[in-house]
This record gives sequence, C-alpha cells and structure tokens, in this order.
Amino acid sequence: MPEFHDRLLSLGLARVSEAAAMASARLIGRGDEKAADQAAVNAMRDQLNRLDIRGTVVIGEGERDEAPMLYIGEEVGSGNGPEVDIALDPLEGTTLTAKDMPNALTVIAMAPRGTLLHAPDVYMEKLAIGPGFRRGIVTMDMSPSERVSALAAAKGCSTEDITVCVLDRPRHEEMIAELRTTGAAIRLITDGDVAGVIHCAEPDITGIDMYMGSGGAPEGVLGAAALKCMGGQMFGKLLFRNDDEKGRAEKAGIKNLNRVYTRDDMVTSDVIFAATGVTDGSLLPGIKREPGFLTAETMLMRSKTGSIRRMTYRNPT
Ligand code: FBP
Repeated sequence: MPEFHDRLLSLGLARVSEAAAMASARLIGRGDEKAADQAAVNAMRDQLNRLDIRGTVVIGEGERDEAPMLYIGEEVGSGNGPEVDIALDPLEGTTLTAKDMPNALTVIAMAPRGTLLHAPDVYMEKLAIGPGFRRGIVTMDMSPSERVSALAAAKGCSTEDITVCVLDRPRHEEMIAELRTTGAAIRLITDGDVAGVIHCAEPDITGIDMYMGSGGAPEGVLGAAALKCMGGQMFGKLLFRNDDEKGRAEKAGIKNLNRVYTRDDMVTSDVIFAATGVTDGSLLPGIKREPGFLTAETMLMRSKTGSIRRMTYRNPT
C-alpha cells in the first residue's frame, strides 16, 4: 500500500484549495450563495481528481442524497496512490462571499484513511485555545466565565485582557451575557467558525485567545485539523436537536453520542491542511483581481513538522 507522503501531497492540496477559491471569486458580492458554492465545489472536485490518491470524502457537502458532488463517501482522486480521508469545505462562508464580507475561505484537510472523525452534519459545541498552555486548562465542563478566568490565570493577565471569538447567534445570547460579566472582549463573527478556531492559534496576530460556542460539526473537524498543525487545544461535543440528527451520527458510525472529542480524537494521525482566502480576512487576504490576473494566498500546513507555508499564486485569467 503506498504511503501517505504528506510532504509531496501537500503542494497538490494547495492547488486544490487555490482552484476552489479562484473559481468562487467571480461570485464575490453577487448575492448568490449557491452559485458561489457550486463554482468552488466544481473546481475543487476537478482538482482533487487529478491527485494521485485513493481518497474518500469524509467531511463534505452533505449526504449522498443531498449533495451531487463531494458528498460524504464520494471517492476522489486518480485511484492510484495512498488511501486517504478528506475533509473539505469548498466555500466556508457562503453568505460572507455572497455579501462580500470578510473571512470567507476555502478549506481542505487530508490524512491517512480512517483517521478523521466522520462528523455528521449536526451542530457541535466547540472550545479552542492556542498553543503553549498546559493540557486541559480549559474544559467543556467549565462555565464560559470559568474558562475565561482559567485562561487569564494561565496567561498571567486580567480577564479583561482576554478576547473570545463567538458566532453571533441568538442561541449564544446567554453565553455572551455570562462572558460579559468577566470583562473579556468578545469578537462576534457572523459566519465562518473554522477561521474563528484557527484565530486562536496566533493570538498575537489575530488578537483572539479563545473560541467557544456551537457551529457545524464538519467545520469542527476542519478546525481541529488546522490546530493539529498549528498547535493549540480543541474540544468538541456533538449536539442533537432530534432523532433524525442522532440517526445521522449513528449512520456515521458514532456510538457514544455524548462523547467530548479532543483535537486528537477528531484527527488521530498526521494531517495536511490548506486554506485559501476568498474575501479579505484576518488570516488571509482574499482573491485579488487585476486586469488579466487573479491572485490567491494559501496557508499550507503539515502537522508532522508543524510547518506553515504562505503561498501567493498569480494566474492569468
Ligand atoms: P456555510 O459556509 O456552509 O454557510 O457555513 C458557515 C457557518 O458559519 C460555519 O462556519 C458554521 O460552523 C455554521 O455556518 C454555523 O451554522 P449556523 O449558521 O446554523 O449557526
């Protein structure tokens, strides 16, 4: 069986990510989320199928009957090469793209077969902090304010010096109210919690120390893959609103529906991760359009080495 050569495969993964971001670029600010997503999906699938891998999409566009392309379980790649799991979101922030708002990304992660959590399309309660802290200084069992206090104590700063990133949703009102009592700053984002989680890994640059709240479980696995490369802790617990959602988890092979997953439970081996900016954001600049050219910037990371590459790709249109 061919080995998972993460070093060789990583550049191919960057190409996949770049192509998806560039394809959705012409739909930035056009008010059409579906068209922007479809353009990214088509380009991503086309590029993935050129890679010498035997890939299975484990985090994708949806269940087979809901998504015609890049659905969960779809086989991608040339059919030659290592067996790999792929987690992808061709356009993370469809609304951000349609409205030309910051932080829309293309994201994709690849790892040896059987090593990425097959997260169903349900919500996940998430908690993330950056690198350099003792394991478990914040936990899912703590209340939001306890987490802020614990992180401030570990950083040796006041709770007022902590910034927490949270998705701006009515379901988070209570949590936000509790966080306010600590004096911490809250960076509210309208969408895009993969970027929200990644922000924690570089607090000096992004100003964000911690991410918490519920968002998509598939995005949770992508966030965990990124943090595995960059360093940092993450926890996730699946949330179920009804039996149909529980059924989705059982179908995905999940037995313990109450499990709290750590970063390394979600991504159990080495992983490679690529993200390309679609709209300008605090992690990556978006696609730039000049007459005759498109330029994309990609972050390409490998957990084995902890390397982070930032690549600029300029291509004639
Ligand atoms: P899409 O790009 O698929 O629309 O997802 C955007 C997103 O904000 C994710 O980053 C996040 O995990 C999820 O939606 C949150 O879901 P909801 O909008 O239902 O709160």
